[in-house]
Amino acid sequence: MSKPSNVAPADKQKIFIIHGPNLNLLGTRNPDQYGSLTLDKVNTAIRKKARDLNLETRIIQTNHEGRIIDLLHRRRKWADGFILNPGAFTHYAYAIRDAIEAIGTPVVEVHLSNIYEREAFRKISVTKGVCAAQFYGKKVESYLEALEYFGLSQE
Ligand code: DQA
Repeated sequence: MSKPSNVAPADKQKIFIIHGPNLNLLGTRNPDQYGSLTLDKVNTAIRKKARDLNLETRIIQTNHEGRIIDLLHRRRKWADGFILNPGAFTHYAYAIRDAIEAIGTPVVEVHLSNIYEREAFRKISVTKGVCAAQFYGKKVESYLEALEYFGLSQE
């Protein structure tokens, strides 16, 4: 039976996705670790998955730590959740950790590569402890799992 037309659709969850530094170079940057998809293709896969899960998304890439912090602050009321790949900031950026802790909106950390099977400095995430979840090591699939984390919780 189809829904009566006067029933308003449930509000979509809004997910803000932030790709951190050097992820603009996906496609040519170390494909063994990060896959061969360009950032545009990664974003296409993210948007398709978000549609399937009935999520509204905004996606931004930035190479700047302060911009990530500003986005977390400014979008914290708009967003029901963030998906953040902090890139190398993961391993030392305490200011991003503090921002995640401060905003009170859940942030899911994502990595394309398996940071736990790479150089010693990558095994440490200073942000993980204040994130709601962490998905890593599955290339673009890591982002899709993060979307499912939010999408499945609204059913
Ligand atoms: C990364 C892992 C980081 O160690 C690295 O600095 C990146 C990408 C990942 O997606 O696997 O830039 O966050």
